[in-house]
Amino acid sequence: MTSFNPANQLSRRTSAVEEAAIIVMAGKARQLKAQGKDVISLTLGEPDFDTPRHIRDAATKAMNDGFTHYAPVPGMADIKQALSEKLKAENNLDYAPNEIIMSNGAKQSFTNAIFATIDPGDEVILLAPYWVAYEGIIKMAGGVPIIVQSGADEGFKPPAERIAAAITDKTRLLVINSPCNPSGAMFTRSELENIAAIVLQHPHLMVISDEIYEYITFDEEHFSIGSLPDMIERTITINGFSKGFAMTGWRLGYSAGPAPIAAAMSKVQGALTAGANAFVQKAAISALTGPRDDVETMRQSYLERRNLVVSALEAIKGISLNTPPGTFYAFPDISSFFGKTSGNTRINDCNDMCNWLLEEHLVATVPGSAFGNETSLRISFAASVDDLKLALERITRALNSLA
Ligand SMILES: Cc1ncc(COP(=O)(O)O)c(C=O)c1O
Repeated sequence: MTSFNPANQLSRRTSAVEEAAIIVMAGKARQLKAQGKDVISLTLGEPDFDTPRHIRDAATKAMNDGFTHYAPVPGMADIKQALSEKLKAENNLDYAPNEIIMSNGAKQSFTNAIFATIDPGDEVILLAPYWVAYEGIIKMAGGVPIIVQSGADEGFKPPAERIAAAITDKTRLLVINSPCNPSGAMFTRSELENIAAIVLQHPHLMVISDEIYEYITFDEEHFSIGSLPDMIERTITINGFSKGFAMTGWRLGYSAGPAPIAAAMSKVQGALTAGANAFVQKAAISALTGPRDDVETMRQSYLERRNLVVSALEAIKGISLNTPPGTFYAFPDISSFFGKTSGNTRINDCNDMCNWLLEEHLVATVPGSAFGNETSLRISFAASVDDLKLALERITRALNSLA
C-alpha cells in the first residue's frame, strides 16, 4: 500500500496564502508570556473596549424576542434601511437598501466583492502599505494583486499618477482603505478626486472603498470616494461595526454597491456562509440609531494614546513618523537602524527589528513586511496607557542601544 500523507491533499489555493505575520507575532508573544516573560503586546488590531451597554442590551432583547433563526442572505430589511439612511446622512452616498448586503464582518464583504467580480488572472491594485488580508483573499480567488508602493515621505499615499501607471487592461479593481490599516493615513477629498478622475477613464475599473475606521479619526474629516460625481456606480463601499463600535467579536459588516454587483455578492455569500447573525443585526440598529457617546469617548481615548505614542516615538533619534490622522496604529519608519548592531544582534530589516524587540526587549509589534512595506513597524495603541508607556520606554532604550 502506498503511504498516505494528508499534507499532500492541500489545494494550491491554500498554499498561495501565507499565515499572516500578525498571527505569527501574536503567537510568539503568547508563547513568551506562557514562559513567564513580561511581554507587552502591541500587535492587536481591535479596540480594547467592551461593546457599549445599550448595544449589548439590544442583542439580549432581540434574542429573547426570538431573533435566533436564519436571517435572509442579503440581510434584514430594517438594518438595511437604517444603513441606507446612515450612508446618505454621514457619507453622502446614495445606496438603496437592495444595494446593501449584510455580512459576517467587513472581511467577508471584501471576500464577497472579490469573488463576485474577479476571474483568474484579473488584476487588483493594492496601495502599500495595505491590510494583509486583502492579498490572501485576492489570491484565493485566482486574482493577481498589483502593489503600488508609497513611502513615509508621501504620507503613505501614492500620487494618482503612480496608480494610473499600474492600470492594465486586466485591472478590475482598485482598493482604497482610508483611514488605512496599518499607516493611519487618510486620503483627502482632493486626493480622491484625482484618483476618481483616473478610475473614470477606464471602462472596466471599479473601486473597493474599505471605510471600517471611519469613526476613529482625529485631525481630518473622513471622505467617501463613492460620493464623488459618477463614482457611486463604480464603488463598492465596505464598512462594519467592529472598530468604531468595538464589536469585533460580533462579526457584522456590510457592503454597498450597484445592484447587479450587490446581487452577485449576495450569491457568493449564500454559497459560502448564508446570512449574518439575526440578533446581531437587530443590535446593530441600536448601534446606528442610539447614542454615540461611547463611540466619541473611545475616539477621545485613542486620540490621547495616539498623542502619547507619537511624542514618545518622535523623541527617538532615527525614527521617522507621520502622525496618524486616524485608526489606532502608528507606523514608524525604522530603516535608519538597518545595518546597526546591539551586542551580537545585527538588525538587517524590519523582521529582524520586530523579532529583536520581542525576544530581547519584550515588546511585540508587527513588521511592515506584513503589509507590503519593508521599512516600518506597526504599533497598535489600542492598549492601556500603562502598557503603552512601559512599551515605549523599552522601545526607546532598545533603539538607543543600536550603534
Ligand atoms: C482595513 C480593515 N478592513 C477590514 C477589517 C475587518 O473587519 P471585520 O472585523 O468587520 O471583518 C479590518 C480588521 O482588522 C481592517 O483592518
